[in-house]
Amino acid sequence: MSVSATTSPLRVAIAGAGMISRHHLLAWQALGPRVEVVAVCDPDASRAARRAGEFGIPASYTDPERMLGEARPAALDIASPRETHVGWAEAAAARCIAVLCQKPLAPTLDQAVALVRHVAGRVPLMVHENWRFRPWYRTVRRWLDAGELGEVRGFTLSTVSSGLLPDVAGRRPALERQPFMAHEQRLMIAEVLIHHLDVARFLCGALRVVAARAAHTVPEVAGETQAVLFLETAAGMPAIVSGNMAAHGFPPGTGDRLEILGNRASVVLEGSTLRLLGPAPRQENLDLSAGYQESFDSTIRHFVECLASGAGFETDATENLETLRLVEHAYWAAGLHASTTRGAEDVR
Ligand SMILES: NC(=O)c1ccc[n+]([C@@H]2O[C@H](COP(=O)([O-])OP(=O)(O)OC[C@H]3O[C@@H](n4cnc5c(N)ncnc54)[C@H](O)[C@@H]3O)[C@@H](O)[C@H]2O)c1
Repeated sequence: MSVSATTSPLRVAIAGAGMISRHHLLAWQALGPRVEVVAVCDPDASRAARRAGEFGIPASYTDPERMLGEARPAALDIASPRETHVGWAEAAAARCIAVLCQKPLAPTLDQAVALVRHVAGRVPLMVHENWRFRPWYRTVRRWLDAGELGEVRGFTLSTVSSGLLPDVAGRRPALERQPFMAHEQRLMIAEVLIHHLDVARFLCGALRVVAARAAHTVPEVAGETQAVLFLETAAGMPAIVSGNMAAHGFPPGTGDRLEILGNRASVVLEGSTLRLLGPAPRQENLDLSAGYQESFDSTIRHFVECLASGAGFETDATENLETLRLVEHAYWAAGLHASTTRGAEDVR
């Protein structure tokens, strides 16, 4: 691969200057002089200029080709809406620029497969799937690797919030934070539970969807607002991934609850506490907001370190297709495939 991504400092450009770009840019900043963010591009010039000002980025653009041509980055960080990911990744690959792309890699599995077929092998392509880099999931992975839990006999991961319900001021916190959620046809599974499915794969290994149910309960948003996905591990053990963003009385922000039942010990993650229950019990008190940013820091550091060493990415695009397969199968199993892919073929 003729990618000049090993030169130091690594020249990075970022696509998208919306909500999540701030967490990306904090992570790039944390890498210090090893990297240099040279440009930011957003069709909204004021957003691009604001991020450039906040993070001392020398150039801001509204035109992708102009940015890639003039700023000559060695790596592109794609933090723009999902329907723009394929176009950005292909434009970068055409210029031999390494790509780190936010999830979901593409709006549908078919589009992601086509992209991987076209781009992987030509340039390094990693998916920014940061959830599994949350420190508490790394701890659970270490406990599993050390054999503390034994064989996994049951797995439940859920996220329940009131984010899509109006608060006392009549505002819906999830839509205040991410307004695009209002019109996304594929919401709970493709936008949110995609992370939990990836964590489930990270902790349980290969999974398949056995059944799924989803419901659209908030008329003000287009997509499904709750889903329950029933999966099984390669050993035939049950796993459940579920989410609801319109649950009265729950906090507005997403928080995960995890339960893993092993044949030696169990794990429970609830609120800011992670517990190992069994013969050698342990408890960790978590700083959830520090862990949130840390997951971005670790994802981006991993990308940079792999580029420098030539090692494979933990979440390379081919690996990530397995998570996208679970997402797609969940929509099929929930009977929502046809209604949520209408028009998706026009995106590319
Ligand atoms: N990993 C996570 O935890 C996490 C959390 C939130 C969002 N995301 C993902 O990040 C991406 C962006 O989400 P967000 O919350 O920042 O959305 P956002 O709507 O806040 O920001 C998106 C930005 O992209 C800009 N944009 C639109 N078209 C563009 C294009 N062609 N090129 C460049 N920029 C373009 C918009 O003007 C906007 O400024 C999505 O893929 C989303 O799924 C990931």
